[in-house]
Amino acid sequence: MALWDGRFQKDTDKSVADFTESLTLDQRLYPYDVWGSQVHARMLARQGIIQQEDADSIESELSRIKERLDNGALSMQSHMEDIHMTIENALIEALGDVGAKVHAGRSRNDQIATDERLFLRDQVDKLSDLLSAVQTALVELADHYRDVIVPGYTHLQHAQPVSFAHHLLAYVEMFERDKQRFADARHRINLLPLGSGALAGSTLPLDRNFVAGELGFDGILENSMDAVADRDYIIEFVSALSIAATHTSRLAEDIILWASPEFGFIEIDEAFCTGSSLMPQKKNPDVAELIRGKTSRVFGGLVQILTLLKGLPLTYNRDIQEDKAGMLDALDTFTSILSVLAPMLSSTEVNRQNAHHAVQDPYLMATDLAEWLVQQGVPFREAHRQVGSFVKFCNQNRTSPDQASLEQLRACIPSATEECLKLFSAERSVQSRTTEGGTAPERVQEQLSKWKKRLQASG
Ligand code: ARG
Repeated sequence: MALWDGRFQKDTDKSVADFTESLTLDQRLYPYDVWGSQVHARMLARQGIIQQEDADSIESELSRIKERLDNGALSMQSHMEDIHMTIENALIEALGDVGAKVHAGRSRNDQIATDERLFLRDQVDKLSDLLSAVQTALVELADHYRDVIVPGYTHLQHAQPVSFAHHLLAYVEMFERDKQRFADARHRINLLPLGSGALAGSTLPLDRNFVAGELGFDGILENSMDAVADRDYIIEFVSALSIAATHTSRLAEDIILWASPEFGFIEIDEAFCTGSSLMPQKKNPDVAELIRGKTSRVFGGLVQILTLLKGLPLTYNRDIQEDKAGMLDALDTFTSILSVLAPMLSSTEVNRQNAHHAVQDPYLMATDLAEWLVQQGVPFREAHRQVGSFVKFCNQNRTSPDQASLEQLRACIPSATEECLKLFSAERSVQSRTTEGGTAPERVQEQLSKWKKRLQASG
């Protein structure tokens, strides 16, 4: 028997009950559904819509129901359709007519939107903490290996030498913006739908601002149709998840490359690798690969919620019930990514020798030579051309730029001096990139100090 079956003569077909239930997913929202119902009942009594003693009984019975759900004494049965029905049904079973008063002035349409917003408000806070943990792990790794220089890449080709810490801190910046996106989305999430009813508001004298205050919302949604129909807060949340997952996926890709024998810059701890069932020697970076791979599921959630909403007329349509599947999967997937990423980073070691070996490539310093010429007054385009012709000379003569003689250098670069030969040092190159945001040790040290302070303050 459903709570809405007054006008029906037939029972719902079993296939329909299975097809239309959302309890499988929305049962996770039960603490919020209980809390919202308690505050709703309190408000109904304050407004003289129900008796105070009835509201008191409803509130305490709802607390008991929450306990029974916490410890599994009250089971989630799918014939109950959704979490709202499960809880209201349990309330009516316990309190009879008194329990039957709770739904006055309320619809499942404003109820579900309220539950979701309360849930997401907690989730953005949790994600922000998890992102801080990843940032902290990155900063600690960067700090520990702050003397290590590696090739910086563009097009995955050797570009210019950079501090390894600088590379890691780039991700710390990205994750900071991700946290800001969650914090910003939180402002729009944290508004109250309840009191909108099914779509048009209520004839009962509800006090929506009281409910908003009790539930910790910053305010109320001001259009009842918008409140029940839109799910842009989910789109925004999963968008923020997707952007953040793009960052973790790129970091995972860097980790995979660095751990390969071709790079060999890092050693992932064995506890965060797995082996091959066939090849005995293998130690694979599966965790990083799955961080990259699972990102597709997060994006899937974004595409799902966008597609779900794009053709729906106002206001609530049952389609909207499908707003949970992709969102929850994206949330759980990204939460699991962050939870494994932080400890994997903390246990990662850097192979200083391999890094040192990799930055011996003198071509990494070609730009340094061109910029040295600019400082001698050579127009940059001309300096670029001269250094390019020197690179061509070295390639053709199978000689390395740092092995060339001053005469050979001068043949391509007329204003070259002895000093130019000293430019082929990765250490010197990094040390001279002192622009704000650059990779010079003192700049990186400033960044490290900034992040240590910030992360301590937030943690
Ligand atoms: N289970 C529904 C959902 O998740 C709750 C709202 C149902 N509203 C309705 N009119 N059938 O969206």
